[in-house]
Amino acid sequence: MSNDGVNKGRRRLLIGATSAVGAVGAVGAAVPFVASWNPSAKAKTAGAPVKVDVSKLEPGQQAIVQWRGKPVWLVRRGPEALADLAKLDDTLADPKSEVPQQPSYVPGTPARAIREDIAVLVGICTHLGCSPTYRPEIAPEDLGPQWVGGFYCPCHGSRFDLSGRVVKSSPAPTNLVVPPHFYESEDVIIVGVDQETA
Ligand code: FES
Repeated sequence: MSNDGVNKGRRRLLIGATSAVGAVGAVGAAVPFVASWNPSAKAKTAGAPVKVDVSKLEPGQQAIVQWRGKPVWLVRRGPEALADLAKLDDTLADPKSEVPQQPSYVPGTPARAIREDIAVLVGICTHLGCSPTYRPEIAPEDLGPQWVGGFYCPCHGSRFDLSGRVVKSSPAPTNLVVPPHFYESEDVIIVGVDQETA
């Protein structure tokens, strides 16, 4: 009995020590990151923010970065794609993004983005965690005439629009997650942290 007490106490102490080291490590990792375009594998594992320059991303193009071991998509939407997004409300389960799958500074508009033309999304299906496929084509044969570009999850068929909003009747219960992020400058996004806490 008394041994148990000692062990429990020791375990708590060890957990406390590990947390403290983790916190110091995270702060340390964030500093070199800001000056670097390629955070080390160790920094990535620790969840350091990721810096992305979207200046060369053309309309329709997708960039993928890794953050906390997850894919984060950055997709530029051209004017037509943005216009199409505004017409989809009736087909979506949560068109105004009322379920909190995004930080509060991301508006519940069709573009669902700080900067309208750039979608920033965690590329993990909200059903069972597969990574959906980017399908920017209009009305491809396999997705049907209503398809105006979006993401299709091959695991069980969930569909999302180009803002990551889930289409009604998909197995996925919610829109895709928008990660914390902010614009360091017009074209440079910091993914993984809110501006206030950066
Ligand atoms: S994991 Fe995407 S539809 Fe099931």
